[in-house]
Amino acid sequence: MHERYNNIIELKEISSTNDYAMELARTESVPDFTTICTDFQSKGRGQLGNFWESNRGENLLFSVIVHPREIALKEQFILSQCVALSVRDIVALFCENVTVKWPNDIYVGNNKVAGILIENQLSQKHIEFSVIGIGLNVNQTTFTSAPNPTSLSLENDKLHFDKEEVLQLFLNRLTENYNLICNNPEQIRTRYLDFLYLKNVPHIYSDADGFFEGKITNVEADGRLVITDTYGNEKKYYFKEVQYILM
Ligand code: BTN
Repeated sequence: MHERYNNIIELKEISSTNDYAMELARTESVPDFTTICTDFQSKGRGQLGNFWESNRGENLLFSVIVHPREIALKEQFILSQCVALSVRDIVALFCENVTVKWPNDIYVGNNKVAGILIENQLSQKHIEFSVIGIGLNVNQTTFTSAPNPTSLSLENDKLHFDKEEVLQLFLNRLTENYNLICNNPEQIRTRYLDFLYLKNVPHIYSDADGFFEGKITNVEADGRLVITDTYGNEKKYYFKEVQYILM
């Protein structure tokens, strides 16, 4: 039986659900999986300070608050893996060929259907709370600025999806996968690797030394991407240290 999540704060419009959720979690002790969602963000934030494009009312824009106090700071990438897998699992109910592009973009084929922005409030040894921000393209069919976007609708002959249903499916899956962080973290790491975009596929990358050809072979527990180049050297990168080159 699946639970229906009622702990959802719905806002018509807000600057950013992540900002709202950060403030809420700082000032009130809210239960895990409290969710803020909105129809429109005036300052929706993406990774690397980018703007997150989304037409009013067409997509899922939401942030989930959790308190992962049991996750050691050096293991915090497991939360990112858990969230990415949960989004992947839900998108895969409606689309073929759904993968996670390291570290946590969700792809259908070569196009991005969802982005994740996790922001943590840290104390000395652990994570006090995390705000898991997700933008999942559901019913939008034309985009103006996102580089290679897609949506559930575009992948399904412009079918219209019920956003609320998709959100409920996601929150159920997130809860299941979140419990695995304590009970069976290996299962999360293994499944993340199973669905990793371009794993074991030759591709061109660039790093501080220039362009090179290699294959993604692993992701370390600390989140570093491992690319094995054509000479057999294993190169390891933190986020932003390596770029995928479009071919
Ligand atoms: C990315 O750049 O891939 C991450 C995008 C994250 C966007 C979501 S939309 C809901 C939440 N609120 C924000 O301001 N950003 C995240």
